[in-house]
Amino acid sequence: NPAVDQPENDKIRSLEPHMEDSTGELMNTNTGVRINDDQNSLKAGDRGASLLEDFILREKITHFDHERIPERVVHARGSGAHGFFKLYEPLGQYTKAQFLNDTSIETPVFVRFSTVAGSRGSTDLARDVRGFAVKFYTQEGNFDLVGNNMPVFFIQDAIKFPDLVHAVKPEPDNEIPQAASAHDTFWDFISVMPESAHMIMWLMSDRAIPRSYRMMEGFGVHTFRLINAEGVSHFVKFHWKPLLGVHAVAWDEAQNISGKDPDYHRRDLWDAIESGNFPEYELGLQIVPEADEFKFEFDLLDPTKIIPEELVPVIKVGKLTLNRNPENFFAETEQSAFHIGHVVPGIDFTNDPLLQGRLFSYTDTQLIRLGGPNFQEIPINRPIVPVHNNQRDGYMRQTINRGKISYGPNSLGDNYPLQAKASEGGFTSYPERIDARKIRARSKSFLDHFSQARLFFNSQSDPEKNHMIEAFSFELGKVQSVEVRQRMLGILSMVDKGLAAEVAFSLRLSVPEDPELPVNRSIPADGDPADYDPVM
Ligand code: HEM
Repeated sequence: NPAVDQPENDKIRSLEPHMEDSTGELMNTNTGVRINDDQNSLKAGDRGASLLEDFILREKITHFDHERIPERVVHARGSGAHGFFKLYEPLGQYTKAQFLNDTSIETPVFVRFSTVAGSRGSTDLARDVRGFAVKFYTQEGNFDLVGNNMPVFFIQDAIKFPDLVHAVKPEPDNEIPQAASAHDTFWDFISVMPESAHMIMWLMSDRAIPRSYRMMEGFGVHTFRLINAEGVSHFVKFHWKPLLGVHAVAWDEAQNISGKDPDYHRRDLWDAIESGNFPEYELGLQIVPEADEFKFEFDLLDPTKIIPEELVPVIKVGKLTLNRNPENFFAETEQSAFHIGHVVPGIDFTNDPLLQGRLFSYTDTQLIRLGGPNFQEIPINRPIVPVHNNQRDGYMRQTINRGKISYGPNSLGDNYPLQAKASEGGFTSYPERIDARKIRARSKSFLDHFSQARLFFNSQSDPEKNHMIEAFSFELGKVQSVEVRQRMLGILSMVDKGLAAEVAFSLRLSVPEDPELPVNRSIPADGDPADYDPVM
């Protein structure tokens, strides 16, 4: 963006050799042969037929025929931006991650904001969760913080994710609706999945229709671990706090904007950066000592729970500034590959069963979306540090590895890659002690689905509560199945009787007296039911 005077960063510099500007150049084929006519195909006579021999025609059309790649299975619609992260104070007490210790470094980042349910061409203003994915290109490799603008999630176990997404996405027979949650399969799923109660409160709140990507929070959702140089672990929740504050549009405004400018958020982000009005967010941490793991009324491993800020304050540790638009949407934003499994020494995982499943899913989906095992070599995904290992070959390999040795241990090579010790910056997993039975079940500590849903509803101002009542009424009003509406009223009554009554009034239904929660049939045959979750 030449219009804006911006500091360069290592990542941008590393992208430069891949950039191309054809202004004023003569045209070539992809093999470098000059072309003097790409507007007339080679024909037998001026009235044809066209000749198979025409390699210029064939190459141009073949490339065009292959321009599309699959959109992301979720978060298909997104907008990206480059920027940098600057730390306020060293965090050595908690983590050995270098980018969280050295305040002199400006760590390059690439961010992708997204909606979740709609396809690539859907409106920005849909009532939906927003993705907030940040790739830090650190001196110790890439760290991806792949979060959302809501601090909790619909489900507690990744094995339910395909079900959730099948229910959320357009219905399979008619592919309606394109990008909204107001439909039977979505609400059917929610109505039989009480653990989604907290998330659904956020989704029906103003948080689901942000005014701008510049004005929304981000959350890592899961509890992660920070590990310091002595090997001591602290639990951590990651937050992004926008310096412009959190703002939403009203639902009527959102629908109006969707009609007039479906690119509203994308345009807002682009224009803000282009005009030098750089979006800024502070990174916040909630830190819990290992010894306090069981101090709370909820389980730290349960992704449907927040840690209330009154219990553990958010410490602001640094600032993210987005100061440069991508040069090319496809090459950068579309081909970017985020993954919560991309961590650096000093950051580690917990046993949250949603997190654990995500650790499998991202690379797996990117293998097909980005066409094979070499997508980390795509310029936007490459770390700013060199890569040395014995991985080789595969579709679209870019690196030309020298020498005969691509295995270890070996005795023939003298320039083969060595494994780093932890003392040399090598990643070692936190040696958490686990002594347990192998079992397909859920902990009883995951069972309170309604307290925090109620906490969230009660935290809203009266106008915000009204927006939520209107949202539930609108959304459930579109649901054709009376049973589903009725079951949802039962769920809402567990959260707040007043909320349920208001929504029931709009739907001309009554709130069930004693709603039944669905029963989970997956208690293991040899397990004591008392120890496990009797409820879905
Ligand atoms: C994509 C966040 C749960 C699978 C994304 C993206 C975000 C995100 C922000 C978009 C990344 C981008 O911009 O490229 C979250 C959060 C979750 C969550 C915050 C819960 C706390 C899950 C789970 C799974 C999953 C449980 C699977 C078990 C995927 C897949 C993609 C994706 C397959 C597409 C990735 C790609 O094609 O590059 N997620 N997600 N997510 N997520 Fe999640």
